Amino acid sequence: MIHSSFSPDATVGNIVAAQPDLARLFERVGIDYCCGGKRTLAQACAGKGLDPAAFAVLLAAAAKLPAAGPTVDARAMSLTALADHIEQTHHCYLKEELPALAEKADRVAGKHGGRDPRLLVVAETIRALAGEMFHHMAKEEQILFPLVRELERAGTVASHCGSIANPIRQMELEHDGAGAAVARLRELTDGFVPDAAACNTHRAMLAGFARLESDLHAHVHKENNVLFPRALALEAHAAA
Ligand SMILES: [Fe+2]
Ligand SMILES: [Fe+2]
Repeated sequence: MIHSSFSPDATVGNIVAAQPDLARLFERVGIDYCCGGKRTLAQACAGKGLDPAAFAVLLAAAAKLPAAGPTVDARAMSLTALADHIEQTHHCYLKEELPALAEKADRVAGKHGGRDPRLLVVAETIRALAGEMFHHMAKEEQILFPLVRELERAGTVASHCGSIANPIRQMELEHDGAGAAVARLRELTDGFVPDAAACNTHRAMLAGFARLESDLHAHVHKENNVLFPRALALEAHAAA
C-alpha cells in the first residue's frame, strides 16, 4: 500500500517541503526536487525509469528514519525568517564559494585543459554561473525579499511592478538556468569523480562542485517550493 503522502499525484516539491530529510533520497536517484518540484512523483519516477509505487515504499521507510542532522523546516518559519535564513546561509555560502570555485576551475583548465579539453568548458560554465548567481541574488535581496517581508508585515505591497508573481516568475526562470549549469558541470566531470591523473586542485574543485550542487538544490527548493508559493498565497489572500 502506498503511503498517502507519497501518492503518485503528490508533487516532489511538496514531499520535500513536508519532510526535508527526504531530499537526500531524491538526490541519490537523480530526481530534481527543486526546479522540477512541480512535477508529480509519477512523472519524476517515469523520467528515471523508476516504479512510483516501489519508490513510495522507499520514501515511507526513509521518512521513519531519525533526522540526519540540523535540517531546517522551512515550512514552519515565517516568510521573513525564511528569507533571512536563505540570505544568511545559501547566499553567504555562494558569495564566498563561487569566486573560489571559478578561480580553481581556471587554474585546472590552464594546467590540464590540454589533456582534457572539457576542463576549459567547465571553467567557462562555472564563471558564467557565478556571474548569473551574483545578479540573481542581488535581485532577490534588493527587490523580491523586501517585497515578501513587506507583504507579511503589512498584508499588502505598494509595488510599481504589479503582482509579486512577476519577479517570482523571473527568479524561477533563473533557477532553471542555474540548475542546468550545475547539471552541465556534473556531466562534464563524469559525475564529479576525479580520474587517476587528477591533481589536488582538480580534486578540491570536484568536491566543491558536488557541495555546490547539493546546496543549490536545497536553496532553490526553499524558494520555489516554500517561499514563493506562500508569498503568492498571501498576496492572493490580501487581494480577496
Ligand atoms: Fe536565493
Ligand atoms: Fe533564487
